Amino acid sequence: MKRKVNVWDYAGKIAEAMNPGILATTKADGNVNTMTIGWGMLGVKWHRPVFILYVRESRHTKAMLDKNGEFTINVPLGEVDKKILSYCGTKSGRDTDKIADLGLTLEEPEVIQVPGIRELPLTLECKVIYKQQQDPEAIDPDIHKRNYPPFFPDGRSDYHTAYYGQILDAYIIE
Ligand SMILES: Cc1cc2nc3c(=O)[nH]c(=O)nc-3n(C[C@H](O)[C@H](O)[C@H](O)COP(=O)(O)O)c2cc1C
Repeated sequence: MKRKVNVWDYAGKIAEAMNPGILATTKADGNVNTMTIGWGMLGVKWHRPVFILYVRESRHTKAMLDKNGEFTINVPLGEVDKKILSYCGTKSGRDTDKIADLGLTLEEPEVIQVPGIRELPLTLECKVIYKQQQDPEAIDPDIHKRNYPPFFPDGRSDYHTAYYGQILDAYIIE
């Protein structure tokens, strides 16, 4: 069962949960993948409630999102099995099916195609309405130095792209 919630009532909980981490789930070509995120923003743009996800170019999640611009955010309420966050934050969906490996329970979505994850019950269904790679020139030089060393074989850095997801539904899986 899903209990609808007002996302703003949970703004503090969502922000707090980003450390140690929450899950961002995508679905493309019939495959579901999830990854741990520690950076994100909840706010308003174009009069719409949005969750902004920051995804590095190397993530399988980026390829999935660029195919299907939808994602769910799942936030623990209470204790969460730390193994879920560490596994989903170190293994890539390119190499393994993280959902099956961990035995996570997918929950049918209400509005988009991407399911939620029962083990982290607070769920936001989001549809990408804007995306933009962070402008390397606009990043504070010290932050740039710490976060974006050369990464790819050609020397390019692994920059984040911001995905603005309009929050279309918010509920707790019970
Ligand atoms: C606590 C934690 C927070 C993370 N936050 C982010 C994030 O905000 N953005 C990002 O691109 N990667 C983040 N990562 C790294 C990804 O979760 C990790 O690279 C993952 O294996 C990517 O999975 P994928 O290749 O299936 O997309 C985080 C990892 C951890 C452990």
